[in-house]
Amino acid sequence: MSAAHGLFVTFEGGEGAGKSTQIRLLADALRARGLTVLMTREPGGSKGAEAVRHVLLSGAAEPYGIRMEAILFAAARSDHVEQVIRPALAAGSVVLCDRFMDSSRVYQGVTGNLEQPFIEALERVAINGVVPDCTIIFDLPASVGLERARKRAGGPGEQPDRFEKEELQTHEKRREAFLDIAAREPLRCRVIDATKAQDTIAAEVLAIVEPLLPVGALSHQEHVS
Ligand SMILES: Nc1ncnc2c1ncn2[C@@H]1O[C@H](COP(=O)(O)OP(=O)(O)OP(=O)(O)O)[C@@H](O)[C@H]1O
Ligand SMILES: [Mg+2]
Repeated sequence: MSAAHGLFVTFEGGEGAGKSTQIRLLADALRARGLTVLMTREPGGSKGAEAVRHVLLSGAAEPYGIRMEAILFAAARSDHVEQVIRPALAAGSVVLCDRFMDSSRVYQGVTGNLEQPFIEALERVAINGVVPDCTIIFDLPASVGLERARKRAGGPGEQPDRFEKEELQTHEKRREAFLDIAAREPLRCRVIDATKAQDTIAAEVLAIVEPLLPVGALSHQEHVS
């Protein structure tokens, strides 16, 4: 089910794949066309969810087990959906979200070894019908992504977060899991080769999203010419 009148696009993939870079470039490109764009991220994106974000990424919830973490992710997502995403879509905005339900399927479901029905139930409650219209999966070897993420962190005192510090093998398993989702839901998901240059990827992302833009959301240029 597609929510309301706007357009909901999610950006997924492993660490350092370029999600945050590309979401910014797409937001700029769409805003330049006069579209109203909401750029958001998970975990977080709403006041309640940002409060939970720190607990999750710092590893504070880790000792209490993967089920606890999965439920906290779902709680944060529910707040984010109801407080921010659903209202923005209802207002006709283009909502771009850096990670969403597929990250839970992959991180908690596949590499967290949580049972499928448990993950599915949490997803249902958390998204409550707000399924992305399009999910762009940034695919690259885990070693390349982690190297990029390490370089980006760079500065003194910058420690890898709870998920970045896991084994390379775990990251590779996540890559496969994202590709599995794309293969199972080809209408919703598009896979991009994230080893390409940023500009090339940005053009590919725009080409995927352009045909999906809400009816009536003509570019400024189109209105004036
Ligand atoms: N296509 C690219 N080629 C080379 N480097 C890139 C490319 N895209 C992004 N980078 C660089 O790689 C690093 C990670 O990119 P980015 O933060 O966008 O990834 P991410 O998918 O959001 O990672 P995370 O999951 O850790 O948030 C940044 O330093 C960014 O400048
Ligand atoms: Mg990022």
